[in-house]
Parts: sequence; C-alpha cells; structure tokens
Amino acid sequence: MTVGGGPIDSDQYPVWDLTIRLIHWYFPAAIGVMWWSGEQGRMEVHAWVGYSLLILVLTRIVWGFIGSESARFRHFVRGPGEIRRYLASGGAYSGHNPLGALSVVVLLALLVSQTVSGTMSSDDILFEGPFAYWAQDWSGAVADWHETNWRLLQGLIALHLIAVGWYQWKKRQPMVQTMIRGRSETRFSAAAPRPLWLSMMTASILSGVLWWLITVAPEAPSYY
Ligand code: HEM
Ligand code: HEM
Repeated sequence: MTVGGGPIDSDQYPVWDLTIRLIHWYFPAAIGVMWWSGEQGRMEVHAWVGYSLLILVLTRIVWGFIGSESARFRHFVRGPGEIRRYLASGGAYSGHNPLGALSVVVLLALLVSQTVSGTMSSDDILFEGPFAYWAQDWSGAVADWHETNWRLLQGLIALHLIAVGWYQWKKRQPMVQTMIRGRSETRFSAAAPRPLWLSMMTASILSGVLWWLITVAPEAPSYY
C-alpha cells in the first residue's frame, strides 16, 4: 500500500479491495442478527447466519495470505517492538497503525472463536451445534465460552467503533468513506487488487468443506 497525497489517477488502486469491503460490511449486519437470534433462541437463523460468518471470517484470513497487497497480514501486522515504538512516538503513523493492526487480528480471532465454539455448543433443550458430539464432555464448557467470548467480542467491537470515530471526527480522516469506496484522496494502493472471484472461490471451497464436516459429524447423544 502506498500512502500519499495528490489526485487519484487510474493507476492508483483501492486500499480496501472489494472482498475486504463486502466481508467487512457483512460483519455488523450478520452480528446484529446473531445477537438477536442468540438471545431469542431462534436457533435455525442463528446456525445459518453463523455458518456464513464462519466461512467469511475464514475467507478473510486466507485473503491475508493470498489477497491484495494491503489485505495481507505480512503487510500490516507488526511485533510488540514496533507497537511500543508507535506508542512512544506519540501516535505518529500513517495508514494501518501497529495498534490498529493488532485489533484487526484480535477481532478476527474472536470471530473465529465465537463461530467455532458455537458449532460445538448446545442449548441443552432443542438445539445443538453440528459438532457438539466432538466436544463430548466439554460441550457445557464450550457453551460457557461461547457466552464469555461474546462479551469479549462486544467489548472489542465497542473499542473498534470508538477508534474509528476518533479518527473520523477528531482527526478528520474519512475512515468510513474509505471503507465504503475503497480509497480516498490520501489512502490508496499502488498495487492492483486481486479479483473478487478468487475470494468467492475460496469461500465456496470453504463452504464445501464445512458442509462435508457437518454431514460426517455424528449427532450428539440425546439425554432426554
Ligand atoms: C460490528 C462488527 C464489526 C466488526 C467485527 C468489524 C471488524 C473490522 C475488521 C476486522 C477490520 C479490518 C479490515 C480488514 O483488514 O479486514 C475493520 C476495519 C474497519 N472498520 Fe470495522 N467492524 C465492525 C463494524 C464496523 C462499523 C459499524 C463501522 C463504521 C461505523 C466500521 C468501520 C471500519 C473502518 C472505517 C475500518 C477501516 C479501518 C482503517 O482504515 O484502518 N466497522 N473492521
Ligand atoms: C459471530 C457469531 C456468533 C455470535 C455473535 C453468537 C452469539 C450468541 C449469543 C448472544 C447467544 C446467547 C447466549 C446466552 O445468553 O445464552 C448464543 C447462543 C448459542 N449459539 Fe451463538 N453466536 C455465534 C455463532 C454461533 C454458531 C456458528 C453456532 C452454531 C451453529 C452457534 C450456536 C449457539 C448455540 C447452540 C447457543 C445456545 C447456547 C446456550 O444456550 O448456552 N452460535 N450465541
């Protein structure tokens, strides 16, 4: 990713490609549905939207290795040394700062943990995740984790929104517009984005694998 000023030319590409933007905006919409359906016990909706989230989070992670330059983890994930230097410098940094990058990784990890724990949880009444059998005696603990992880996720999403709001309004950087349009006057990439079909193909393969796992997974024994 190149961060620079000046007019946008045709050889300047989005800093956030279409894959990142579509997956990103799916998150708040789908997480809203998951919250509602989890609390209301609408488990069929919960499971289907949950599978779609699992697939898209995993696709985002694969995209971190095969996706567009600015989406790749090696491009923005930095070690603790760099984060300390960033904090000591008083926060001078352009683009994805090292602390922001850390929060991206934590958000994605919590989303994986939330969806995977869900597939192994049971509500002890009518519904169990497709892999509840594999959790065996741990399924109660996994369901507890599903609840705790949700609180952590809520906390991190709140922090994410505060951070975005801070840059958007205090620092007057068009963060949200950039996440919608893909680029702004000052944030763009010099490298061409990788095509949407590649991430869609990745998502299809992952869906096939998940579907196969669901069909081979034995049903958890019923205690009632
Ligand atoms: C509620 C669920 C949300 C989750 C799980 C989430 C997660 C993420 C993740 C993982 C990224 C990193 C993008 C990537 O490289 O893949 C990101 C970036 C971003 N998010 Fe969210 N997000 C959520 C909601 C929102 C909302 C509601 C807004 C707007 C108000 C927002 C605004 C942004 C912006 C502007 C960026 C780009 C940050 C930058 O330019 O460095 N997010 N978000
Ligand atoms: C980001 C994704 C997810 C979110 C935000 C989420 C959120 C929630 C919430 C808020 C509850 C209610 C907890 C309570 O108060 O008892 C819940 C329960 C549950 N979820 Fe999820 N969930 C997600 C993914 C999944 C997935 C993929 C599955 C599996 C198909 C799943 C299966 C379950 C089950 C079985 C329960 C009932 C557990 C119990 O009653 O202890 N969840 N979830």
